[in-house]
Amino acid sequence: MTLEQAKNKLAKYGQEHVLKYYNELSEAEKTSLLMQIQTADMSALSSCKNKEELNSRGVITPLAAMQLEEIRANQEQFTAIGLEAIRQGKMGAVMLAGGMGTRLGSDAPKGMYNLGITGELYIFECQIKNLLDVVRQADAWVHLFIMTSDKNHDTTVAFLKEKDFFGYNEEYVHFFIQEMALCSDFEGKILLEEKGKMADSPNGNGGWFISMKNTGMLDVVHREGIEWLNIFAVDNVLQRIADPCLLGATLQRNCVSGAKVVKKNAPREGVGVLCLEDGRPSIVEYYELTDEMVEARDENGEPAYNFGAILNYIFRLKELEAIQASMPLHIVEKKIPCLDENGELLQPETPNGFKYETLVLDMVHQMPNCLPFEVEREREFAPIKNMTGVDSVETARILLEKNGVVL
Ligand code: UTP
Repeated sequence: MTLEQAKNKLAKYGQEHVLKYYNELSEAEKTSLLMQIQTADMSALSSCKNKEELNSRGVITPLAAMQLEEIRANQEQFTAIGLEAIRQGKMGAVMLAGGMGTRLGSDAPKGMYNLGITGELYIFECQIKNLLDVVRQADAWVHLFIMTSDKNHDTTVAFLKEKDFFGYNEEYVHFFIQEMALCSDFEGKILLEEKGKMADSPNGNGGWFISMKNTGMLDVVHREGIEWLNIFAVDNVLQRIADPCLLGATLQRNCVSGAKVVKKNAPREGVGVLCLEDGRPSIVEYYELTDEMVEARDENGEPAYNFGAILNYIFRLKELEAIQASMPLHIVEKKIPCLDENGELLQPETPNGFKYETLVLDMVHQMPNCLPFEVEREREFAPIKNMTGVDSVETARILLEKNGVVL
């Protein structure tokens, strides 16, 4: 792209300030900035002005979960069905490891965090060990797709190679890089990370499917005859991946998607609640719960909105392929390192702008149905989001020990 073309594009979106330092840049920096301007999608930035209208809600009603008692009564049957499908290669697993972990305050990929006390125990290791349990049970390898981002790809790949994939079969591990989205200030103006670089960030945990498609990873999925994808967050160290019981239950109930959920530990616990919205499965965030929803009861007198999703979903490929055109955008306030008006790098202590993300939970809403599948939170839910306190390294260590893991 020439400088003239870049100016035209920026003018179209009211972003001319991006070239403020252009004359100070080296030739290589100039080329790189022009390239970034050429490829960046700037069309979403203006929507921050009406962001409240973007995600308006339909009519929310409860969706009953398949609870532990019922699962235990059918465990053998569900597991057998799931294992059979896994042996036939029908299930792939997708690890979402492209996040920035801003709340954890570390630049390193979250999966590389060492939880060990007497020895080493990395988050990646915990997850891969759990997947290896399924591999042994099914006596078949499961393809593991790992989504990284521009910011952490090389470090992640080098680390897992150095650790020999923690015993996983390298032939079944596939990396792909998720797409980035520009970051703006509260007025929708692009922030500069460097004089020759616009600030950008991974495009949210819903970016995985389009990124799989655009990186050719979906061709691998097709080639291998995979029919279901299990999407899970890297940061839950007790995550059970490619769970045959969940797959079996979903198949047995003729559902096209399933979501692991836990019973909430407080009515307004910070997890999204699986429910119905205009008759389709959906997830409402904890801050969207009205008083009536918190007080609503089911026919057994239990809270009607009682199960929170833990970012572990299975989706049937056929339905995923049908939904991609219409993922809604979420505009979230974040702390974004950027240049201030004097061209000095600022590390903000409070949110200073917006990131533009798509979220995996919106995929649930685009499915015709979804089975909420309860799991024991003490056995399967130990997310690491913060340095201390709730959902932290501290709480995860306690839960790992409770599950017999030596730290
Ligand atoms: P979170 O939504 O908690 O985001 O990620 P995060 O980036 O890890 O943390 P914060 O919000 O900045 O503190 C849930 C899961 O989705 C992945 C994360 O790696 C994590 O496994 N994720 C998130 C991505 O893969 N890409 C993204 O753009 C965002």
